[in-house]
Amino acid sequence: MILVQISDTHIDEPGALVYGHFDTSRALARAVDVINAMDPGPDLVLHTGDIASHGSVPRYQAFKEIVGALNVPLAVIPGNHDERNALRQVFGGTSSLPTTGDFLHYVIEDHPVRIICCDSVVAGETPGEMCPERLAWLEARLSEAPDRPTVVALHHPPFYSGMTGSSAKGLVRGGGELDELLRGHGQVVRILAGHVHRAITAEYGGSIAISGPTTCYPFGLDMGPERLLNISHEPPAIAVHLWLPDATPAGPGLISHTLPIGEWAEPITLLKAGVRVLAV
Ligand SMILES: [Fe+2]
Ligand SMILES: [Fe+2]
Repeated sequence: MILVQISDTHIDEPGALVYGHFDTSRALARAVDVINAMDPGPDLVLHTGDIASHGSVPRYQAFKEIVGALNVPLAVIPGNHDERNALRQVFGGTSSLPTTGDFLHYVIEDHPVRIICCDSVVAGETPGEMCPERLAWLEARLSEAPDRPTVVALHHPPFYSGMTGSSAKGLVRGGGELDELLRGHGQVVRILAGHVHRAITAEYGGSIAISGPTTCYPFGLDMGPERLLNISHEPPAIAVHLWLPDATPAGPGLISHTLPIGEWAEPITLLKAGVRVLAV
């Protein structure tokens, strides 16, 4: 199974440049091209939130048009820049968002790895939370299938990135409770988030938590006393999560890659089918 994770696409009005610099629609279209060119292709593309820079029906329709070129299914979860009502109008009840409830959370059951998509959004606020109602829902979903390897996805990373300028201390409420809840469910092979526009890995809830990279403008790693939050000019990227039967000597597991998007010189092949084709 191949799961591609895209995040923080921040789609704006057609032709608009976000922060005066970034054509986020074009950036998403390039990511779609990269995903469609993958061989073998993924089984699913999961968007971990902040679909639009400010959620609205026209922006979600513009997003839908761009991702309509994907040749694989897409699932979406909301981020703090998204707007639940507008998102429901465009995607609610479809295979990309198979719910129309108060919280936009649901489960994807069609793959070897079960994916539980959570809604960590607090309307109108940047940080996220897992309130008692959402934690109870997640506990019930995890208890339904204790033997199936499971990914838990939510927009807000439940860990602190260490980037001093970022307001993204993950979850402002419910982080400790979520950690404890996940520790009670050993089938969780990964926690996937977005929000910090940067690929970061941490131990959390007895599992591995990763914030996926953004398809548009990455935030730089700044740990200094001035508490800068910089948009860096590093390349955007997608994450590629492979469920492999022989991932470790112990058996199957989820292996996570970051795949930068950009223009580079042609690759230099060293080995082909295990045979060296270029001398040192
Ligand atoms: Fe974002
Ligand atoms: Fe966000």
